[in-house]
Amino acid sequence: MKEISIRAETVSDYTAIRNLIVKVFHETYGSGEPEATLVEQLRQLPQPNTTISLIAELDQALVGQIFFSALQLENHPDIPVCALAPLGVYRQYQQQGIGSQLVEKGLEECAKQGYKAVFVQGSLRYYPRFGFIPLRADLYTIFKSDHDMVLELEKGIINKISGLVDYPEPWQALK
Ligand SMILES: CC(C)(COP(=O)(O)OP(=O)(O)OC[C@H]1O[C@@H](n2cnc3c(N)ncnc32)[C@H](O)[C@@H]1OP(=O)(O)O)[C@@H](O)C(=O)NCCC(=O)NCCS
Repeated sequence: MKEISIRAETVSDYTAIRNLIVKVFHETYGSGEPEATLVEQLRQLPQPNTTISLIAELDQALVGQIFFSALQLENHPDIPVCALAPLGVYRQYQQQGIGSQLVEKGLEECAKQGYKAVFVQGSLRYYPRFGFIPLRADLYTIFKSDHDMVLELEKGIINKISGLVDYPEPWQALK
């Protein structure tokens, strides 16, 4: 297989990213508009709601994307944490490790930017391979989902945090 390149998004990628998210999530879950709109709204939030958005390209064409955005720990507002979502790879390019490369590069970038932990709501079969673990009962998100997971970027941080993981307003539409 040809080499995939992964880089940060630029403004000129926005339309292609929207198209990818809508198509991939629609094909998989029957709806993709809310996820694409979420990304657009999260990009607009004022600092310190930093976002990290990486894209995977093959021959300069977009084949996958991953997006991270800041969250707030109600009991520990000084500890920076973020959410991973959405992650998508066009169907014809799935099962070739592109999703994994996006997750791994994305987590590296989150660590570089100072995030201490990353939360995700997703497949209990997919995310544990990167080190994500289910949340303890005393650490919970606004979604209160069995699919809520967390990965620590600073060793031991998960045992130091508890309470509500709050998601900014744009996420309410996905509740
Ligand atoms: C999830 C996704 C990004 C993985 O991309 P990918 O490039 O195929 O990922 P990789 O090639 O690195 O890994 C493929 C593995 O993911 C598994 N996988 C793919 N989709 C999955 C899903 N929805 N749930 C659980 N596992 C999934 C595959 O079975 C495969 O497992 P294996 O390595 O044990 O065979 C891609 O399938 C996708 O875009 N799915 C639709 C959107 C989506 O569900 N995003 C994640 C939301 S939480």
